[in-house]
Amino acid sequence: MRLDTLRKQAIAEVLATIKGRENEPAGTVFKNVKLHKDMPAKAFLEMMDVDYSRSMSFLCTNCHMENGNWASDERKNKVIARQMERMQRDVNAKYLVNVKELDDEIPKVTCTMCHRGTPHMPNTMDVPAQPVPQRRRDVPMPMQKVKGR
Ligand code: HEC
Ligand code: HEC
Repeated sequence: MRLDTLRKQAIAEVLATIKGRENEPAGTVFKNVKLHKDMPAKAFLEMMDVDYSRSMSFLCTNCHMENGNWASDERKNKVIARQMERMQRDVNAKYLVNVKELDDEIPKVTCTMCHRGTPHMPNTMDVPAQPVPQRRRDVPMPMQKVKGR
């Protein structure tokens, strides 16, 4: 079965146990949430799927126990994921925000942006066929025109 189908099933199971409390903060609905206390429980679970799992082609059980004890911190990957979240927040809030020359109004790194579908990303890449055009603020890049930016 496809990974995302299995993950959707797991999410449906968790949602069934918090029926009526989907929009309450994850920090009160769940037992051991340290970094996303104010996020609505349902949005928190969507993040578990899209950011925490899909970005690395993980099933929930790559970080969580098979026995449904979601609160347990026994799995190494869960502990690492919290450190990744902290690192990501630091990069975004302390460093990227200070790179004033960026065009993006809210530049940020995400799990997906680094991981690209794998827990161990390659440190090499194909040689590009053409150079990227030099960026000039007064002349929008062709791609930006196409996207209507
Ligand atoms: C890359 C690791 C990772 C993956 C994959 C992952 N989680 Fe999590 N999960 C975490 C971390 C880390 C926390 C704690 C977050 C915090 O402290 O803010 C957590 C917390 C939770 C909690 C709260 C449990 C409690 O009572 O404290 C639930 C429920 C949960 N995850 C469900 C899921 C589901 C469902 C999936 C699959 C769709 C999933 N997780 C995939 C890392 C992961
Ligand atoms: C700035 C880039 C970057 C971001 C953003 C990032 N990671 Fe990572 N992550 C890494 C690197 C580098 C490694 C180590 C890879 C290796 O060992 O080959 C890693 C490793 C991991 C591992 C351990 C994998 C393993 O099998 O050892 C987990 C789990 C993980 N990241 C989860 C996350 C989650 C969840 C997020 C988003 C909250 C995230 N990462 C965001 C760069 C990043």
